[in-house]
Amino acid sequence: MEFIAETPLDMHLHLREEEMLSLVTPFSAEQFAGGVVMPNLVEPVDSLDRLRSYRSAIQTACGNAVFHPYMTLFFRDYSRQELMTARDEIIGLKLYPAGITTQSEAGVRDFNRIEKTVALLEELDIPLLIHGETAGFVMDREKEFLPVYERLAGAFPRLRIVMEHITTSEALTLLDRFDNVAATVTLHHLLITLDDMAGDLLRPDLFCKPIAKTPRDREALRRAVLEGHPRLMFGSDSAPHPRHRKECLDCAAGVFSAPVALPALVQLFEEADCLDKLPAFISTNAQRFYRISPPAKNVRLERRPWQVPEHYETVTPFLAEKTIAWRLKPSGSD
Ligand code: NCD
Ligand code: ZN
Repeated sequence: MEFIAETPLDMHLHLREEEMLSLVTPFSAEQFAGGVVMPNLVEPVDSLDRLRSYRSAIQTACGNAVFHPYMTLFFRDYSRQELMTARDEIIGLKLYPAGITTQSEAGVRDFNRIEKTVALLEELDIPLLIHGETAGFVMDREKEFLPVYERLAGAFPRLRIVMEHITTSEALTLLDRFDNVAATVTLHHLLITLDDMAGDLLRPDLFCKPIAKTPRDREALRRAVLEGHPRLMFGSDSAPHPRHRKECLDCAAGVFSAPVALPALVQLFEEADCLDKLPAFISTNAQRFYRISPPAKNVRLERRPWQVPEHYETVTPFLAEKTIAWRLKPSGSD
């Protein structure tokens, strides 16, 4: 049995730099036609110069694969001129609350002082992508942040806002109230709950921000995605860290899902008998909301089980050593 993914997109992706960039980028480039690249490098991507050199490093890492890197700039105060110049080279600005996740120290400390830049984004029609968590109790962070989304969506009705990697039923409720808001959903938040990470022996490979939530939240996310919600987009949030940064006292947050993303999604949708809803989630919803026309690319998968390796060089992948029912068909095979 075969499934052809037409122009699949990963709308939230960490590709890192240097050796890690070379190691992880080919997984995304072979499975997807394009991806939204996060700017939280050790030194954030917050200028057009840095963005251009990062983009060219990504293109080198892609080799011959057809893969469009949709670049983001790290949110800070930008002038109108800066944004006008950057507009054609970015898909949006990515806003992190300061210190909330990996490499976000340069993020926003005072949400009362972002209005000027946000107004420019609305005026220039540049989407705003947000990591929506407060610094509160870890299970409540997303819920506590929702009033910020609500305020921005109401005050800037023409601004397109993306709630990144939503994990709660409350975020879904908010999504339905604002046409100018969309959201990404990861693979891992569709598959795991807090129990998988910390209910038995502790699993650093499953520790990420936002943290995996309750079975009820996972069910609500699954239902919305599998029913084909028109403003939900796949974003893996694949976030590789070397094992020495995961298996240590200060475990870094991030699930490295790039190697398994598309096969595991096909399996999930097939098991729910919803394969017809997959194209919206992995491609057309994102194209419509972001108004992008990615390069056409058919990615073929076949129903043939494979075992996910225990590691790829220094990094443990999501679903390591598990069997996935679908795999990518090597190009050129029939
Ligand atoms: C991401 C990372 O490692 O860059 N980590 C994560 O747990 N998701 C950052 C982020 O998207 O929060
Ligand atoms: Zn992320």
